[in-house]
Amino acid sequence: MKNQELINKMTLEEKAVFLSGRSEWETWEISRLGIPSVFCSDGPHGIRKQAGAGDHLGLNESLPATCFPTAATIANSWDEELGKEVGEALGKEASVLDVQVLLGPGLNIKRSPLCGRNFEYFSEDPYLAGKMAASYIRGIQSQGVYACPKHFAVNSQELRRMAMNAVLDERTLREIYLTGFEIAVKEGGAKAIMTSYNQVNGVYANENQHLLQDILRKEWVFDGIVITDWGGSNDHIKGVQARSNLEMPTPGLDSARQIVAAVQDGSLTMEELDTCVDDLLDAVLTLNEKRRSKAEKFQEERHHELARRAASESAVLLKNSDHILPLKAGCTVAVIGDFAVEPRYQGAGSSMVKPTSLETVEKAIQNYGWKLSGISRGYKRTGDADEVLKKEALDAAAKADVVLYCFGLDEMSEVEGMDRSHMRIPQNQIELLQAMVQVNDKIVGILSAGASIEMPWHTCCKAILHGYLSGQAGASAMLEILSGKVNPSGRLAESYPVRYEDTPAFRYFPSTERNSEYREGLYVGYRYYDTSSVRVQYPFGFGLSYTEFTYTDLQVDKDGIRVLITNTGDRDGAEVVQMYVGLPNAIVFRPEKELKGFRKVFLKAGESREVRIPFDDKTFRYWNVRTNRWEVEMGTYQIMVGASVSDIRLAKELEVDGTTSEYPYNPAELQYYYTGIIQQISDPEFEALLGHPIPDGKWSGELGINDAVCQMYYAKSSLARFIYKILTDRKLKNEAAGKPDLNLLFQYNIPFRAIAKMTGGMVSMHMVNGVVEVVNGHFFRGMGKVIGGFFANLRANRAYEKRLSSGKGAKK
Ligand code: BGC
Repeated sequence: MKNQELINKMTLEEKAVFLSGRSEWETWEISRLGIPSVFCSDGPHGIRKQAGAGDHLGLNESLPATCFPTAATIANSWDEELGKEVGEALGKEASVLDVQVLLGPGLNIKRSPLCGRNFEYFSEDPYLAGKMAASYIRGIQSQGVYACPKHFAVNSQELRRMAMNAVLDERTLREIYLTGFEIAVKEGGAKAIMTSYNQVNGVYANENQHLLQDILRKEWVFDGIVITDWGGSNDHIKGVQARSNLEMPTPGLDSARQIVAAVQDGSLTMEELDTCVDDLLDAVLTLNEKRRSKAEKFQEERHHELARRAASESAVLLKNSDHILPLKAGCTVAVIGDFAVEPRYQGAGSSMVKPTSLETVEKAIQNYGWKLSGISRGYKRTGDADEVLKKEALDAAAKADVVLYCFGLDEMSEVEGMDRSHMRIPQNQIELLQAMVQVNDKIVGILSAGASIEMPWHTCCKAILHGYLSGQAGASAMLEILSGKVNPSGRLAESYPVRYEDTPAFRYFPSTERNSEYREGLYVGYRYYDTSSVRVQYPFGFGLSYTEFTYTDLQVDKDGIRVLITNTGDRDGAEVVQMYVGLPNAIVFRPEKELKGFRKVFLKAGESREVRIPFDDKTFRYWNVRTNRWEVEMGTYQIMVGASVSDIRLAKELEVDGTTSEYPYNPAELQYYYTGIIQQISDPEFEALLGHPIPDGKWSGELGINDAVCQMYYAKSSLARFIYKILTDRKLKNEAAGKPDLNLLFQYNIPFRAIAKMTGGMVSMHMVNGVVEVVNGHFFRGMGKVIGGFFANLRANRAYEKRLSSGKGAKK
């Protein structure tokens, strides 16, 4: 152990308490031994350090910090250098605000377009997500701050996120849901990682030996700290046994008492406890050492400028008919849309940042020299069309050469704690678009949305520029592209299906029962559309430029590819060269192609450059469930290079040796997985893929401490059902008003056990058991436990505090 001497001096009570949070954001300080605390803060695209009372949902004001574009946005840049620069700026701001652990980036896989937190995640592709995450991590950690990639793992749904069991086969787990984290840990060098709320194959992520020990610690040789998501600890002892180091946020002393008792009764060994303490001590001491050289201030203007550059390099030009863009100097434009006045530039929840300043298209457009025929909000955020605003918008549109229409997803659609129920943008925005095109068909749509949407209305727009959620400087970033000052170079990091019904997990997402069955397996996003030839609106990797690029001279050898890229247009610009790999007629089924490398290259008009993309350990591997290892299938691989998954420009074959002749599957049992037509996988076929029966996920009998408050419709107690009804009514009201109430959403999805983990010691697990008994209809017995437990908890807290302050707890 690195800190054996210090550990020898710690009492059992000190060790136990050290492994949980003292406040919403801080770890325990043990001043007697000079062990300082560290401060954690969200979030992935800006620092959310709360000045006053902390809450993890962003309800209370936080200190101003630069609001960078969200991860879903910057992933579209496909630019690791940019990711690193943003990471550095985030790390710097964290350091200035005296934050030691930055709770991000988020890199869960965008399994379904409907996940409410997709705006916080990079991609549907693990390779791209992992590379971008690693670049952020390198940047953040270069500033003496730990990054904490999250949520490990298989957390791709918000509905009942704390009480959901992801059921998936080992190969899908490894290839799709873990590869990004593997890259983040091995290449990014992450020093912390946050476990997810959910179970993975029946075991909570935070106590999952397979995830935390076998894979994270042993295979990836992770030597940092594991932190629970806020309220995400189920059984703290099992967590410690799996070497999860820090239970957040505020379980009070109840958790610590459980640890003490477990050591005393031998169910937890002192070695297990010390190992966890040692990891955390190492982090706390290292971070405090780095804190000595912490930055005093950051330059707001420079970070704003970086936020602008990040937004403009990430925006994706989806359509540009008749070369309407860039706009001509001096033309007359109408600026329409509520988003032009009140931008949508980030999502809601724990990631919400208070920006240092905020641009709007309404104000920023004054600097671009176009004439304005009018600016109108045109529509309201929610509800039906507003006739007055609509008329104002149509009048302005009729008088303009070009209409700039700012629209997209509303606030309610991109919220932590709630998934979308469809992929459409609000109907009143579409109605206005359809009305405008009747008076002026030169419409340039400027979209704001952090996830993919249906676009049946795309024919109404001559051009579509997708800014995603572009941060505090997003307005001028979009205008730079419209004016031609910046040549767009973003490429989609996710597919845009034509209809929601076309998506691979359509029938499986979100789970309505306890289990979320990942029946689509490997076929997430383009891996499905491409293999099954399902037409999409815009494919993965797609994006237009104001110039054009040609691909020639592809050379492939055992180490990688080289290809000559030429900018054949008359403007400077950047191309994202994408390398995909496939194995036709594979013995082990696999998607048609998979992204295995990429490079963004900037070329002056007329310039050519040879681009090299090396192969790596992920290029040919697949997870073999029979040998239980990464293997390579022998065969003639297709090495493809192109401008999107559907725009392959050049391809060559490469013979590759195999590593085993033990193949894992019987094709007769996995017929549909072999074709990629996976939307209706039968139970037997899913079981063949899983290698075991599908676990029963139905609710039956009484509710348990791990069931969520929103499951109280099953409650036997009429009081509990009444509370459920009140919460549900309030939730529906909020939805109708278009204003997400994060607190309510959190309460709605919280499992009973988490009440004890987030109340700073006021509620013990014993009391929670009492609450659950009340819910199950045993009112008096339950209340007895709650009331009795309350006083017992108070007494036990006092006694523990006394032992802590005296430093004279049990040594063993
Ligand atoms: C979120 C995490 C976040 C934490 C602290 C949780 O609800 O899932 O992403 O870091 O809260 O705010």
